[in-house]
Amino acid sequence: MLSRSQFILGPEGMGFEKEFAAFTGARDCVTVSSGTSAIELSLRDAGVTGEVVTTALTAPFTAVGILAAGASVRFADVDPGTLQMDPADAANRINRRTRALLPVHLYGQLCAIEALRKLAADHGLALIQDACQAHGARLSGRPLTRFSEYVCYSFYPTKNLGCLGDGGAVATSRSRPAQRLRRMRDGGRVGQIALTPGVNARLDEIQACYLRAALPHLAGWNASRAKLAAVYDNALADCPGVTLVRRDQNSVHHLYVIRAQRRDGLRRHLTRAGIGTGVHYPVPLHLHPAFAAARQKRGSLPHAERACREILSLPLWPGLRQTEALRVAESIRSYFQ
Ligand SMILES: Cc1ncc(COP(=O)(O)O)c(C=O)c1O
Repeated sequence: MLSRSQFILGPEGMGFEKEFAAFTGARDCVTVSSGTSAIELSLRDAGVTGEVVTTALTAPFTAVGILAAGASVRFADVDPGTLQMDPADAANRINRRTRALLPVHLYGQLCAIEALRKLAADHGLALIQDACQAHGARLSGRPLTRFSEYVCYSFYPTKNLGCLGDGGAVATSRSRPAQRLRRMRDGGRVGQIALTPGVNARLDEIQACYLRAALPHLAGWNASRAKLAAVYDNALADCPGVTLVRRDQNSVHHLYVIRAQRRDGLRRHLTRAGIGTGVHYPVPLHLHPAFAAARQKRGSLPHAERACREILSLPLWPGLRQTEALRVAESIRSYFQ
């Protein structure tokens, strides 16, 4: 790669696009500079400028991508069992300005994509999937691109498939959007001429090179994550003070999230025991000042608000040992006993 002196948009990127499309079962895949830009470019390509309904429980970057596309955002509540966007609540948020649904496959678990596809079709809305946490997830073997034209991925270093910095991709079921996205990410140019409005959202060759080396390991890493998640499931099934978040066999287990009573106390207890944890996410998006234009007050999305007070992400990565996961579970039990 270095000897070719081609550092952006070269053969490594093209090779990775083909390989990641094959892995996800998409017709095509277009690399971009981040998951946020994948969301922004998908919305721009779909011509969405009105309101976009997404979940209140996700990374702020989901909504950042929506605003970057020039659209506005409206948040829907989550299903309290799965913590994924609730299709019934999303239906209630649709109004005459709504142009798209943008559900997230949160924590590596699929959202209710079939119901949301129907909802989008019934209302003539675009459907863009945020799969930034769900590399390799399919619905009973069916690729996510079966359900919408745009599926957005992030290769932020902590993801199931991460690179050495920022990176992202849009997987798509059709070749025309892929052609347009390739032009849009590169300033809207054909050759040296900017033909259509574009942005600079290109992936570096060095990131593509790294991703090509990592991709063959992804299925194995996802399998390791699944085993560790099963260890946690068993060890915490009847643990007092803990409620498990519902997943199914389609999950790629990006994060292992529990709901806990006295979450912050439990977190301090685990930290003292040398166990690092996370909270994904501490504040639902409708309560972030940056998204105040949605005018959705505290109390308006009760399931997401409550979840943010209770959720805790336990250590989970492919190299974690099962004995270590058991020690985490034991430490949680000891807190509640
Ligand atoms: C659900 C979700 N959506 C969007 C993003 C944005 O991806 P990136 O950080 O690559 O821009 C992330 C990751 O941060 C994410 O987890």
